[in-house]
Amino acid sequence: MQIAILGCGYVGLVSGACLAEIGHSVVCSDNDEGKIRTLIAGGLPIYEPYLSEIVTRNVAAGRLSFTADLGEAVRHGDVVFICVGTPPLQDGDADLSAIDGAARLIAVEARSSKLVVEKSTVPMQTGQKLTRALAIYGRNSKNSFTVASNPEFLREGTAVLDFLHPDRIVIGVSDEPAETKLREIYRPILEQSALPCPIHQRDCPTKDTPALLVTSINSAELIKHACNSFLAVKISYANLIADICEKMGADVEEVMRAMGLDPRIGPAFLRPGLGFGGFCLPKDIQAFIRLGEKAGVDVSLLRSAELINKRRIDHFLTNATHWLWTLKDKRIGVLGLSFKPNTDDIRFAPAVDLIGRLLQEHAQVRVYDPEAMAKTRELFPAIHYGADAYEVAEGSEALMIVTEWDSFRDLDWPRIRSLMQRPLVLDGRNLLNGKEMVAMGFEYQGVGIPPAETWGPNAAQPVEAPLAQRLRT
Ligand code: UGA
Repeated sequence: MQIAILGCGYVGLVSGACLAEIGHSVVCSDNDEGKIRTLIAGGLPIYEPYLSEIVTRNVAAGRLSFTADLGEAVRHGDVVFICVGTPPLQDGDADLSAIDGAARLIAVEARSSKLVVEKSTVPMQTGQKLTRALAIYGRNSKNSFTVASNPEFLREGTAVLDFLHPDRIVIGVSDEPAETKLREIYRPILEQSALPCPIHQRDCPTKDTPALLVTSINSAELIKHACNSFLAVKISYANLIADICEKMGADVEEVMRAMGLDPRIGPAFLRPGLGFGGFCLPKDIQAFIRLGEKAGVDVSLLRSAELINKRRIDHFLTNATHWLWTLKDKRIGVLGLSFKPNTDDIRFAPAVDLIGRLLQEHAQVRVYDPEAMAKTRELFPAIHYGADAYEVAEGSEALMIVTEWDSFRDLDWPRIRSLMQRPLVLDGRNLLNGKEMVAMGFEYQGVGIPPAETWGPNAAQPVEAPLAQRLRT
């Protein structure tokens, strides 16, 4: 099938490359000419495992191309996927101006009728507005436009895998021809015959055939917001339990393990720490809150989840201050900048908030991340960027673990201890084993884990005083 992709962000680029991978002829477009130049030159504007090889292979096979001429892409596609950004406005609402712009472009540039598919995350009822906009902008055209919603559930860091092996595909349609077309597009994935790809031979999980859910357009739009907001609530719940554990002397890792074994709860998204970041969960819960408010629905559950998340850095810094007394002039190493591992994305990353706060306190900040240094340098040009974790540890009075990259777990920790001025590790993601760290001579503070004096056979009973008080005495 001939497919056009409007917008080469994470969703657009991964979707376009993977749709080419399963046999379609795809033209990806973006009005950012620099991005398109990078792609045409064989580079990628983002770091995403497996994406490079899929793009290279499909460009070589003639199934995938890139253009800054969005009209050219529109004319190529029988089906046009809208993958433009929907960033948050000041009041939390999603900014839909790029969707409106896409509607105008499609209506004006189309030379034949199109199925227009929303893949960007949009609030409910956007499909209706898009249908109206296409009719208005295309009122002088003899072409017709049908709108469908096909929300994307891929996660950064595992995006290619998620696209080719999804748990479910949701298509929101208002007529049968649209359903038939979308079924045909996804047939190779639904039949799990996604053409031979390197992932199949390597890390590819053999999964059951994904479910295809055909819904109304409104439901499809709501499903996406409902999922992301639920995930956000789950993470904030884990963080709430972590705070109770810290104050009352239980171990959140033990509690979450037991909770996760209940199939009604499940283990995913129960990792406490510095909270959820990235360009999806924080903005989607905000937009969903606004949607609920406008609908007159009580959204206090969502507001609380958002508030708990916003306070994670405060909480972490309060703990840091108890260990370090003051942060001024302290040399502090930060390990991890991306909002989660296996990506270079720092949008709404907890590390960005944390570094800003450390600088306000006049700490000397030294940072390292395997992939996200270049993007962070644009935001914080004046801090020290280490060549590796060891350089960041050198002379530091505390090392903060902010993103749980696997490679940090495997560092030579005795060497780190010998390099640090004070061997204090503040583990914002519970990446390391606290007991092993203490045995190695570190001072260690995880999240929702009682302090070291309560560990081991001679441990004191869990202390009831708040952590702050315990650390002071
Ligand atoms: C999220 C959703 O998981 C995807 O299903 C969705 O398609 C995507 O948004 C989107 O809307 O495009 P993503 O933003 O890539 O995916 O990242 P997540 O894996 O959801 O992680 C989000 C944040 O939550 C990260 O900062 C991560 O560190 C944090 N997190 C995650 C926790 O703090 N604890 C957890 O247990 C899990």
